[in-house]
Amino acid sequence: MPERKGHIIFIDMEPNSGLVSALAKTRTEVIAEVRNSGLRGRGGAGFPTGVKWNLAAAAESDRKFVVCNADEGEPGTFKDRVLLSEYTDDLLEGMTIAGYAIGADTGILYLRGEYEYLRKHIESVIDRRHTEGFLGKDIGGKQGFDFDIHIRMGSGAYVCGEETALIESLEGQRGEPRNRPPFPVDTGYMGRPTIVNNVETLVTAARILAKGADWFKTFGMDRSKGSKLYSVSGDCARPGVYEFPIGITIAGLLGEIGGEDAKAVAVGGASGRVIPAKDFASTVAFVDAPTGGSVIVFGHDRDMLDVAENFLEFFVDESCGQCTPCREGNPKLLNAVLLLKDGDCSIGYLREIESLAETMQLASKCGLGQSSPNAFLSIIQEFTHEIFGRTPML
Ligand SMILES: Cc1cc2nc3c(=O)[nH]c(=O)nc-3n(C[C@H](O)[C@H](O)[C@H](O)COP(=O)(O)O)c2cc1C
Ligand code: SF4
Repeated sequence: MPERKGHIIFIDMEPNSGLVSALAKTRTEVIAEVRNSGLRGRGGAGFPTGVKWNLAAAAESDRKFVVCNADEGEPGTFKDRVLLSEYTDDLLEGMTIAGYAIGADTGILYLRGEYEYLRKHIESVIDRRHTEGFLGKDIGGKQGFDFDIHIRMGSGAYVCGEETALIESLEGQRGEPRNRPPFPVDTGYMGRPTIVNNVETLVTAARILAKGADWFKTFGMDRSKGSKLYSVSGDCARPGVYEFPIGITIAGLLGEIGGEDAKAVAVGGASGRVIPAKDFASTVAFVDAPTGGSVIVFGHDRDMLDVAENFLEFFVDESCGQCTPCREGNPKLLNAVLLLKDGDCSIGYLREIESLAETMQLASKCGLGQSSPNAFLSIIQEFTHEIFGRTPML
């Protein structure tokens, strides 16, 4: 594929050029390159990757682990699947670079249960990389750098994509989020320092080592560097997986995908705010409209209360039930949406539920309950005209 303007991921690269460049550097220099690039994690939270790697590198332990989060459970997200199937070498290269940087000897690829069909393919690439000397002992001729990668399957729970629940699941426990601190960079898999990174983050890190932090920084905007993959679905002419420089406006993105007539867009999937047309000048970036990459487009025929109902049903099903705000709150939010649809929700009750939603954002233990009210609140606040138009408030 020819290099395209604004593309970091979807370009042809010399195989293993990132790893070869990394192995010519010290571990500290590799981490410095990633830090200088300004790369932020592509799994949703946007944590600076170089900082995470540095913390794990600095932790003292007999063993350390690199975990690739390939659970990809956010509704409307499917960009990691493309990387897992078509950029497999680049991902394994990124994991190996991360292993070298933090001093780990083992990488674990936690693969979404529904992606079982990709397992054979990934294993065959792992085997080939062994024969090529890019996995196993003394990788790339670097004496003493031994690293191997294993695949572990997820079992279909969305919450297992949360990094501490993922680690619990890897250890054979029920997949429930842990209290933090301690953070996985100190106490992760098997109690050892562990970095958990998204698939796209690791592929991007390999690109940065190949082409340099300065090259990477020419893409994107001030506090959000580089490009990003987007899984685009819903009411648009050209759904699919796209790569855009970070900082593209929502209007610009909709123009590219044939969604100019949209009434609203969920830029962070079911966990993000639903953005109405009046705000389409916002940029899609960590500082403005953050996203893990799921872009769901809603046309004018969509009923926004149907959207809220659909998202909340998902969260009610997927809540692990460990903490009260999320376990009890999501069903109450869902019930309020049903009342609104029936025209049976008083303004007073709606205000109480909004306040409950805000409490959930603050008091839930993990990102699931902290973010599940986002879509509900934005729909109630931004589409009041639509909701009030149909609901006789008592
Ligand atoms: C409920 C929930 C589900 C998540 N699912 C995923 C996922 O499928 N893939 C992912 O990379 N991150 C997911 N995350 C974010 C991870 O906890 C973590 O922040 C991420 O893997 C870190 O990688 P990064 O720094 O490369 O972004 C999820 C978080 C929550 C709260
Ligand atoms: S917020 Fe929800 S998913 Fe997260 S720990 Fe609490 S109950 Fe479990």
